[in-house]
Amino acid sequence: AQDVTEDLTEVLYTKEEIDARLQDMAAQIDRDYEGEDVLLVGVLKGACMVMADLSRALTSHVTMDWMAVSSYGSGTKSSGVVRILKDLDADLMGRHVLIAEDIIDSGLTLSWLKANLESRGPASVEICTLLRKPDAVKVDIDVKYVGMDIPNKFVVGYGLDFAEKYRNLDCIGILAPHIYQ
Ligand code: PRP
Ligand code: MN
Ligand code: MG
Repeated sequence: AQDVTEDLTEVLYTKEEIDARLQDMAAQIDRDYEGEDVLLVGVLKGACMVMADLSRALTSHVTMDWMAVSSYGSGTKSSGVVRILKDLDADLMGRHVLIAEDIIDSGLTLSWLKANLESRGPASVEICTLLRKPDAVKVDIDVKYVGMDIPNKFVVGYGLDFAEKYRNLDCIGILAPHIYQ
């Protein structure tokens, strides 16, 4: 087997660092939603690891649903065109919705998705993202929970892919430019 970490120039966050941050975020979410039922919406496929670990760090009742959207295809730049590949099963009417994401890069995916979910009559829609890049602040998008702000490099691992690879890394790393150039 090949060692996929050889394709990274740097490990940005280890499994332990990611987990520590998610535990803090989960504690905050538990406090903010005390007494409320929360619907966690995971954004496939990137958010699979965040959903799995964040949801298990919560002590409150949550239900989980999934939406698959894609704006990147196989490239390294957002196309700006968001496609719904799989819609939610749940009815959002009156629900407290918390979107779980791996990363907000340009912000295009989440600003579109938040507006889309808000149009379905929920009690609230908030966003929880593990990573956020500087470009995201250029888009007017209200993000309640942010794990880490990261530099403008192409990162992979912990759900984040390049051409569908590297999602299974337990760390988050910077992809070596020779891989995608
Ligand atoms: C990635 C990532 C976010 C989005 C962020 O998903 O998981 O969902 O891009 O980019 P943006 O802020 O510039 O819109 P992608 O479209 O690659 O699909 P995937 O989750 O299946 O990898
Ligand atoms: Mn995604
Ligand atoms: Mg992707």
